[in-house]
Amino acid sequence: MMENDIFEPFERLIEIEILDERCRVPENNTLLRCFQFLSMKTISLGEFCWNGDCANCQVWLADSATEKPVLACRTKVSERMKIVRMSREIELK
Ligand code: FES
Repeated sequence: MMENDIFEPFERLIEIEILDERCRVPENNTLLRCFQFLSMKTISLGEFCWNGDCANCQVWLADSATEKPVLACRTKVSERMKIVRMSREIELK
């Protein structure tokens, strides 16, 4: 399988923030796919069900004063999303 086959179609990269670091990731994809885009090997080999069952992909999004837990495999990325905490299973590089 080609790497490009795993991503939903996208025309551009958008900027999000992961633990205070700015990253550019493909629009129109779930957060977990975006993590895979950033770190193909560790996410591809990680313990992820990709369908909402395991919760190993949980991240916390900061939204003004609050933090909200979401499943990265079920959450579509959006511009300027800010991830402030992540499950230990998510290893980027
Ligand atoms: S990867 Fe299992 S719940 Fe998201």
